[in-house]
Amino acid sequence: MNGKEGIGVLFVCLGNICRSPTAEGVFAARVAAAGLGPRFRIDSAGTGDWHLGKPPDPRTRRAAEARGYDLEPLRARRIEPADFARFHYILAMDNLNLRDLKRLCPAESTGRLDLFLRASGSLHASLEVPDPYSGDASHFERVLDLIEQGAHGLLMALRERHGL
Ligand code: 4NP
Repeated sequence: MNGKEGIGVLFVCLGNICRSPTAEGVFAARVAAAGLGPRFRIDSAGTGDWHLGKPPDPRTRRAAEARGYDLEPLRARRIEPADFARFHYILAMDNLNLRDLKRLCPAESTGRLDLFLRASGSLHASLEVPDPYSGDASHFERVLDLIEQGAHGLLMALRERHGL
């Protein structure tokens, strides 16, 4: 993450090895393709601490690589108190993550919290990106489908809101 400038977007899931690093990689790719890299700070974190320092799950990396995203350099970390001031948008993958974030977040920053798919303007009945960890390859593909759609919608929403 580069300095304090730019619109800070933090994606959050449970382990920071499947969904949120995927969202970080896919959203960063969309932002770069739009030539908006310097306008954003993009990162991800987990609410749990089981996988600290680990790269994304091999199943996540494989699925992402097949669609042209390199998640290899990312390393899992846990959300920390400073994140709530550092990032303007703190976007949870599911309702459990959002509930945990609300518990950890200082009152003055709760307005920064949302579900990723709600912030993306998704019209899906469910606004959750389901945890694929115990699933099969189809669950990882579904995560990527939802995140690619969500990243597109999120970038459109933020471009409009910030006049980019
Ligand atoms: P993520 O998936 O929250 O999308 O990174 C998970 C990764 C690990 C675990 C659960 C979910 N786990 O229980 O270790």
